[in-house]
Amino acid sequence: MNGQQVTLLPLSDNLTKLLATAGFTNLQQNYLQYFIHRYNNRTKTSKQISQNYRLFLADDKNLGEFNLLFKEMYYPIVANRSLGSKIWDVDDNEYVDVMMGLGINLFGHNPSFIKEVLITQLDKGIQIGPQSEIVGEVAELISQFTGMERVCFSNTGTEAVMSAIRIARAVTGRNKIVIFSGSYHGHFDGTLIKANQTENNQYALPLSPGVLPNFVNDVLVLDYGNPESLEIIKTHQQELAAVLVVPVQTSRPALQPKEFLHQLRELTQATKIALIFDEMVTGFRIHPGGAQAYFGVQADIATYGKIVGGGMPIGVIAGKSKYMDAIDGGMWNYGDDSYPQTQKTFFAGTFCKHPLAMVAAKAVLQYLQSEGLSLYQKLNERTTQFVTTLNNYFVAEELPLRMANFGSLFGSASVELSEENSPASVAMGLLKYHLLDKGVHLLGITGYLSTVHTDEDINYIIQAVKDSVEQLRIGGFLPTRT
Ligand SMILES: Cc1ncc(COP(=O)(O)O)c(C=O)c1O
Repeated sequence: MNGQQVTLLPLSDNLTKLLATAGFTNLQQNYLQYFIHRYNNRTKTSKQISQNYRLFLADDKNLGEFNLLFKEMYYPIVANRSLGSKIWDVDDNEYVDVMMGLGINLFGHNPSFIKEVLITQLDKGIQIGPQSEIVGEVAELISQFTGMERVCFSNTGTEAVMSAIRIARAVTGRNKIVIFSGSYHGHFDGTLIKANQTENNQYALPLSPGVLPNFVNDVLVLDYGNPESLEIIKTHQQELAAVLVVPVQTSRPALQPKEFLHQLRELTQATKIALIFDEMVTGFRIHPGGAQAYFGVQADIATYGKIVGGGMPIGVIAGKSKYMDAIDGGMWNYGDDSYPQTQKTFFAGTFCKHPLAMVAAKAVLQYLQSEGLSLYQKLNERTTQFVTTLNNYFVAEELPLRMANFGSLFGSASVELSEENSPASVAMGLLKYHLLDKGVHLLGITGYLSTVHTDEDINYIIQAVKDSVEQLRIGGFLPTRT
């Protein structure tokens, strides 16, 4: 590999100054210096690759906000291979992976039942343009799992959400939608919108430069789980095409507002607003029928992706015929007078129904069918036990940390860590790096268990958390037990 060599020692003057001026004690400064060098040594090829290609590769891969404090560790772990619950990086470090493809790998990495169908399809070729042989079967399977009448396919979750919103607007003839604070729906401009607390423009602002104010005009961003949001929806009912909801947000897994969701269903039904469940993470994870089956709420449209693609890029829009007929004009038959009668909206995509995605999805759905509910009962129960063990430990150690889970998704249930470089946010940032250093691959402190994580893997993670906490205490970043 050509390119600039990464200097491991010493820390830059700027960082040393920053540490001193940010009020870090000598103990903390020395510890941080020690740890950064240790981490850089262990993952030196990952760092080297980031440096070498930054000039050419515009990339922000899963790193979160840039923070000068962690600058020297601000690079993704570069993976070389993976199998089951493990990945290996380019320095040959082994990790128990709980990032799990950002929620894709419910069955671990490279499960043989998916690998085999992909290889078979590769042998047969990749035919884009003609219809995939099995697309209808996959649609039928998804309909059976989700209770939705009709199904169509996109390539990513973002596209699925964008299309679901377009369908809702086309069918209702209304413009505005509601989304909730804290929900991520992908990177379509129409959902890259955040709450605005000021009085004039009460409900929304662009999330980032480049998102036009015009998009914002038709979006209300409301507080999730808050009954006041229902009142606001009532007030705007005549203008609302859809309420888009992530039933359990990845960033706040402790918030599982079942009653709110039921009230939202009643209200949207009464006011003819489309209720869209974005089940990108919860779909095929919490239950075969997703969060809708778990909470006992049937949406009008639901979007899926991640797990159901078995590692291949996929997005799914599923819904009642009333909405989905806007894709193709609705059901008709040969040999009679029927024809597609519903007014259509626009939907397309070169790679939609990609043969590799279709065979992987079929394999996933058939596997889930054969395993039944017990797969979910076991996995969800193990994750709850894992989180309970961690929480018991945090309580016993008087640490201000709590975890929560929703099925096999787990994450922080602690206070919001918004203030940059506050002791709590620095400790959380460092905890992530300590876990990586100990061979636990994760994103922030959010993660996913899969069906192939063993007790040994889980105990390994728990021990890594305990060891990291002890180190952070030695470094002066976490309080010691009283
Ligand atoms: C709830 C939710 N919706 C939509 C998306 C976007 O999906 P994709 O990244 O496949 O575009 C995500 C991605 O994490 C998600 O979590």
